[in-house]
Amino acid sequence: MNTIQSYIKDHKNRFLDELIELLKIPSVSADPTYKKEVISTANFVLESLKKAGCDHVEICETPGYPIIYGEKIIDKNLPTVLVYGHYDVQPADPIDLWTSPPFEPVIKKTAIHPEGAIFARGACDDKGQMYMHVKALEFMTSSGNLPCNVKFMIEGEEEVGSESLAWFVPRNKEKLANDVILISDTGMIANDIPSITTGLRGLSYVEVEVTGPNRDLHSGLYGGAVANPINILTKMIASLHDENNHITIPGFYDTVVDLSEEERAEMAKAPFSIENYKKALQIDATHGEKGYTTNERNSIRPTLDVNGIWGGYTGKGAKTVIASKAYAKISMRLVPNQDWKSITQLFKNHFEQIAPASVSVKVTPHHGGQGYVTPIDNIAYQAASIAYETTFGKKPIPQRSGGSIPIVALFEKELKSKTILMGFGLDSDAIHSPNEHFGIWNYLKGIETIPYFYQHFTQLSKKNN
Ligand code: BES
Ligand code: MN
Ligand code: MN
Repeated sequence: MNTIQSYIKDHKNRFLDELIELLKIPSVSADPTYKKEVISTANFVLESLKKAGCDHVEICETPGYPIIYGEKIIDKNLPTVLVYGHYDVQPADPIDLWTSPPFEPVIKKTAIHPEGAIFARGACDDKGQMYMHVKALEFMTSSGNLPCNVKFMIEGEEEVGSESLAWFVPRNKEKLANDVILISDTGMIANDIPSITTGLRGLSYVEVEVTGPNRDLHSGLYGGAVANPINILTKMIASLHDENNHITIPGFYDTVVDLSEEERAEMAKAPFSIENYKKALQIDATHGEKGYTTNERNSIRPTLDVNGIWGGYTGKGAKTVIASKAYAKISMRLVPNQDWKSITQLFKNHFEQIAPASVSVKVTPHHGGQGYVTPIDNIAYQAASIAYETTFGKKPIPQRSGGSIPIVALFEKELKSKTILMGFGLDSDAIHSPNEHFGIWNYLKGIETIPYFYQHFTQLSKKNN
């Protein structure tokens, strides 16, 4: 056993206990009733960075929730790694579907996690993954294994669009100056198939409101003679995809850069079983854009999905009514080179244009962001690759993800540095869903792997100079 392995073995129980304490605080950024809890989570992170060996920590106030900053600068001539993560979590609902309360973490075994997984909101996204970095830092500082400078920037608004961070970063470029940004807020293929995320999709999130008559109407007296906004809205939404499941918004695909046949062939080499995929989701068939595989559809292709739809009577029993209004929340996942603001505008124009004269339509843009691709021909990727190979015994596969971390593109624009996405979660960890969990094996493997990234990144930087 090497130093990091024995350190983890000796401190494993404390590492778990500390994460459990962090997971008990309901830091739901979307819901203002949790304001106090979100702030106490920020303080928890601050204290943990102090204890892990940062020699300067601070709470950076913003127009929203604070950003926790910490650093340990050992030598100005050495490279600097900037770690980003988030301490906020998604709302826990629907609560009824949790098998144990979302903010009372418990360890349970699952088929994929025979060594146990911690069940709690935020276990994987992102408290567990963020805290791996704090514990890796603790190991490096306490054992004299920190080879370079490190900065931490942990925010509390990722799940609601990172608005305050977008405000903070351009105002603190010097403080945040770095040679590489390191993030664990994504996943990997499987515990025995390590992978490094090399792409994130962009996002445009809009809300639509369709208004028909000025008040709710008796569906017998008026039905058939006036527009029913729910009927109209669903028809409008249905028209946004054609029979091949292509998106019909004019210009939507104009800036999409298609992957070459070689790149697609390379992608197709990643191990994947469509049968297991269907089985895990209990579906008889998959669905998506014609001409693309499941893994292409969920990573390199843009999409449009209704996230929520409501209107009219949804209470118990029946009520005969034509509602005055109908609503939907719609997200578009974008690929790199699609500009989220232009796409939002295209959506708005199109949606207003397809509305019949019998209704009026309001489109309200929410947040969004650009996609991102990490190059794999640089020392940061190489360092990450060697790190995984060291601890997993296998070379990791580069893989583009379908999720979004919109702030990553802004980091590149403002700080001029590349981001490495070393995720240790699994798709089956149920992030954003009931019963979110994070494997104990994954948590400890992350803590073990991270110090190797620092080591190899520092070595490769020296060679390059
Ligand atoms: N950590 C996720 C993103 C993610 C998860 C990327 C898994 C790749 C693999 C992040 O917290 C998240 O949920 N992002 C949001 C976007 C944000 C603007 C709310 C998303 O992807 O829906
Ligand atoms: Mn996240
Ligand atoms: Mn998330």
